[in-house]
Amino acid sequence: PLSRSLSMTSLNGLPQWEDEDLPVEDLLLFEVSWEVTNKVGGIYTVIQTKAKITVDEWGENFFMVGPYYEHNVKTQVELCEPPNPAIEKAMDALRSNGCQVYFGRWLIEGSPYVVLFDIGAAAWNLDRWKGEFWDAAGIGLPFDDREANNSLIFGSLTAWFFKELTDQFQGTPSIIAHFHEWQAGAGLILCRSRKLPIATIFTTHATLLGRYLCAGNADFYNNLDKFNVDKEAGERQIYHRYCMERAAVHCAHVFTTVSQITAIEADHMLKRKPDVVTPNGLNVKKFSAMHEFQNLHSTNKVRLQEFVRGHFYGHLDFNLEKTLFFFIAGRYEFMNKGADIFLESLSRLNFLLRVHKRDVTVVVFFIMPAKTNNFNVETLKGQAIRKQLWDTAHSVKEKFGKKLYDALLKGEIPDMNKILDRDDFTIMKRAIYGTQRQSLPPVTTHNMLDDSTDPILSNIRRIGLFNSRTDRVKVIFHPEFLSSTSPLLPMDYEEFVRGCHLGVFPSYYEPWGYTPGECTVMGIPSVTTNLSGFGCFMQEHVADPAAYGIYILDRRFRSADESCNQLTQFMFGFCQQSRRQRVIQRNRTERLSDLLDWRYLGRYYMHARHLTLSRAFPEKFKMDPTAPPQTEGFRFPRPSSVPPSPSASVHSTPHHSDEEEEDDEELYDEEEEAKKDRQNIKGPFTGGEV
Ligand code: UDP
Ligand code: G6P
Ligand code: GLC
Repeated sequence: PLSRSLSMTSLNGLPQWEDEDLPVEDLLLFEVSWEVTNKVGGIYTVIQTKAKITVDEWGENFFMVGPYYEHNVKTQVELCEPPNPAIEKAMDALRSNGCQVYFGRWLIEGSPYVVLFDIGAAAWNLDRWKGEFWDAAGIGLPFDDREANNSLIFGSLTAWFFKELTDQFQGTPSIIAHFHEWQAGAGLILCRSRKLPIATIFTTHATLLGRYLCAGNADFYNNLDKFNVDKEAGERQIYHRYCMERAAVHCAHVFTTVSQITAIEADHMLKRKPDVVTPNGLNVKKFSAMHEFQNLHSTNKVRLQEFVRGHFYGHLDFNLEKTLFFFIAGRYEFMNKGADIFLESLSRLNFLLRVHKRDVTVVVFFIMPAKTNNFNVETLKGQAIRKQLWDTAHSVKEKFGKKLYDALLKGEIPDMNKILDRDDFTIMKRAIYGTQRQSLPPVTTHNMLDDSTDPILSNIRRIGLFNSRTDRVKVIFHPEFLSSTSPLLPMDYEEFVRGCHLGVFPSYYEPWGYTPGECTVMGIPSVTTNLSGFGCFMQEHVADPAAYGIYILDRRFRSADESCNQLTQFMFGFCQQSRRQRVIQRNRTERLSDLLDWRYLGRYYMHARHLTLSRAFPEKFKMDPTAPPQTEGFRFPRPSSVPPSPSASVHSTPHHSDEEEEDDEELYDEEEEAKKDRQNIKGPFTGGEV
């Protein structure tokens, strides 16, 4: 029987469960997702960051199941033989029927085992499997929905694999299969309709209808109970997908979602209340040097400054030491990700900075992939010109240095007016002439395929943010995810985030939203909203989120215009902080990391696993009724030092001036404040059970 030890120990002030008495040696755990080794969006981040703690708990008895793509495997997977003969046998059964199955270790932290099915190689079964799916669930799939067809192939292979596996066992070991999102749902539906002895969990990271309705400008949260779900799905031609999603939800022994707000949405859209909320965590790495993340900010900011020097060549009449870098990043869902209100607020911020004659400049990056036809010439030219200026400066410096050295050897101070000759001046003048440009620095780095209809570009045109000299807000749209091998901006996403000052994620539809959480653990402040799972979670667990660099925008109880004003105020307040205030704020932001650590949040997954075992195998696994995640918990207090919120304090600091850019920190003791705050952390913790 299952029992769990609820003794709490305190790690960094957060309550921890000491041990979980799951008899993992008699169990096998499978986690099934389309994003195993295959990056699409945030689900990949869930799967990839959670691997370590799951391997720590389950060791050799944990496996992930995903689709096989040659490129992904070549770059991320070390193929090997399965250690478990039963798995080998099940794979062989599929192989001998003409399917391709691969086994290996995914080369991420924890190196979990993966079982990967080649979807294309099994596609010849599609018609038969469609028939079987129709018989099992009464759901028919149209021939032209490739994504749905692929998910049926994936599901059929998964269910077949589990059949071959369970046929070899007489009840032991028991199997838990945890399926993520509708693309994995067919496997769950088939396992259940074939009555395989498996305890199942289904986690949804969003609902299909929620995503579609919000992207279509519906007043979603005020009408949750009023939508005719079948009709809405039908009108959007996603009825079959919706049916797969809803059937998986209802077939699962345990249904979970990633946030409270999505739990309410799921209840309305999918007609089942989740049993457990499983908030998304991160694999938080602590540096041994306390302020290492501050140094990383500094060094990566220098790289961004270099890029900006090139991009704005000929227009560099703003002070880079007083330039702040803001960004938004994610899949390009213009309204769901809040790019619409971000642009509007930037135009208001530009106005405020101009009328208040601030010497702060804000450079805003939009990192959202769109269809492009490579980098544009003007952007590449900018970096080439910067490089040329650098080379010119260097060659002149070399010559200068040599002459100076020779003179010093002779015991002379050279005549500074003669140390450079006419040629040197010519080279320098030519280089300066090269920085003249007829056009404004471009607002996008790439040639866009849908330039005239692209929503970001259309809005930039409407509000007139064209990077002119008088603009205090400059915009750079990089319509491609970042990569360290890019010839233009060779930084990976993490390096880029670290170099920025503020992440802005004003999402309308965001079941969780990893991007602001990733900022938090890197010590970079961010804007989130009270419609995102992450924002609500922070609101619940942090007393004064803004003081910790988490600005929660109200998109729930305010009109779009009011939300824009609030966002403008957040950003304007941020621009008024001194360097010292920003450093303090970053320290506080980073301190919230523990809250987002899987070592802490992984408990909800553990709970879901206990629950599914007790439902699927009630004779064998009894559940302690006190087991649901406990409600005692924590709340981050206001930071004990004043000011509680750096941006709010600006006006009450009479001697603060814009000139104050030195890093004097003698009045502020980060260590002391962190220690006090840890002592003050108190309950109640109210996550988890719905
Ligand atoms: N991301 C990335 N490169 C980028 C921008 C974003 O890898 O240039 C990642 C980011 O780190 C995050 C994920 O994309 O983990 C987006 O997840 P989120 O939950 O915010 O949104 P989703 O795309 O799932 O809706
Ligand atoms: C980090 C570094 C400091 C640097 C500061 C710049 O804290 O450790 O040396 O001065 O970043 O901060 P800013 O917000 O101006 O980029
Ligand atoms: C979905 C959601 C996103 C969430 C991610 C991981 O893609 O849109 O908000 O963070 O899944 O759960």
